[in-house]
Amino acid sequence: MNKKLIKEVKSSFKEHFKGKPHVVFSPGRINLIGEHTDYNEGLVFPAAINKGITLAINKSDANVCVVYALNKDEIHEFELKDKQPLENGSWRNYVLGVVTEIQKRGIEIESFNAVFAGNIPEGAGLSSSAALENAFVFGLNELFELGLSKKDMILISQKAEHTYAGVKCGIMDQYTSMFGVKKSALLLDCRTMESHTYKIDFKDYKWILVNTNVKHNLSESAYNDRRAVCEDVSSRLRINALRDATEEKLETIKAAITDEDYQKALYVIEENQRVKAFSKAIEEDDTETLGKLLYQSHEGLSKHYKVSCPELDFLVDIAKKNPNILGARMMGGGFGGCTINLVKKSKVAAFKEEVSDKFLLKFNNACSVYHIKLSAGTRVAK
Ligand code: GLA
Repeated sequence: MNKKLIKEVKSSFKEHFKGKPHVVFSPGRINLIGEHTDYNEGLVFPAAINKGITLAINKSDANVCVVYALNKDEIHEFELKDKQPLENGSWRNYVLGVVTEIQKRGIEIESFNAVFAGNIPEGAGLSSSAALENAFVFGLNELFELGLSKKDMILISQKAEHTYAGVKCGIMDQYTSMFGVKKSALLLDCRTMESHTYKIDFKDYKWILVNTNVKHNLSESAYNDRRAVCEDVSSRLRINALRDATEEKLETIKAAITDEDYQKALYVIEENQRVKAFSKAIEEDDTETLGKLLYQSHEGLSKHYKVSCPELDFLVDIAKKNPNILGARMMGGGFGGCTINLVKKSKVAAFKEEVSDKFLLKFNNACSVYHIKLSAGTRVAK
């Protein structure tokens, strides 16, 4: 599938521009568990997937950068000295943001031509934006031999998201897209930015995504609001981040904060503990426990952190009633996108039929079911 994508991007580049481009593939990600813990300097358990963005990029002789978004058939031209974020700029802002954040480090680049295309469904919570940012920072690093490390690159990508897309995201998406390992998930400590690689191979079960195909408004401001609550609670607790909080400590300020904020902070503390329990269960090949932790994570995200929506809750409820599903939860920022489900391999087709029928009946809209493979991170594409 990605071979086809790479071929299309290369041939589109040839059609529009001169010279032999550098070609890069940058994947999207899933997250097994550890949601909304990254910006609390906590633990997450994500993996890069076999869907992503391909970028072909080369130097330009002109004074202008030209970027062609092949899927959308849209072009954006800009000069390196003129890159204000655009209103409703969508993909353009990620490109402009990456270029600006590179320059802010005092690094000089020249004009370039680029074509990109992807196969990550948009709004699915699979981090197409991190894949795009990483594709550009990686491609520019190759093209102009900037000597940036992968860690530098993901910090540039994350900054681009903060300043040009206005989402104060953590580091999970950019890290995973850059550092992903084939057939593996990464237990990432978002404080130290060190990860441990876990090979993921359950004999009888596999990960299946179900996309609600909805993305509710306000998801970005709601995301930033959650982050602000966490920061407020940690400053009241006089700690750097909720990573350092305990339930006992939180109790000491319970009277001083709203019950809603208390529940949110408690969710973060518990989710961090769940990530630890999850990695232990993987080491012990204890799939039953993995499943339970997934359902608990969803419960917390939905009832306490309040980032779910009726469509996601509905899908998780279906999974709960089905004995062939060990666990399920909403994945990513929330308010739409996908659920991740741990499904018995021999029952995947039946599950697909069940969720598709029930979802359509309930919402009068189709959901989509994806099979994914855990894959390597951002790389030069052959
Ligand atoms: C989005 C953000 C991530 C992370 C998740 C929630 O994907 O980009 O940094 O916070 O939401 O876990």
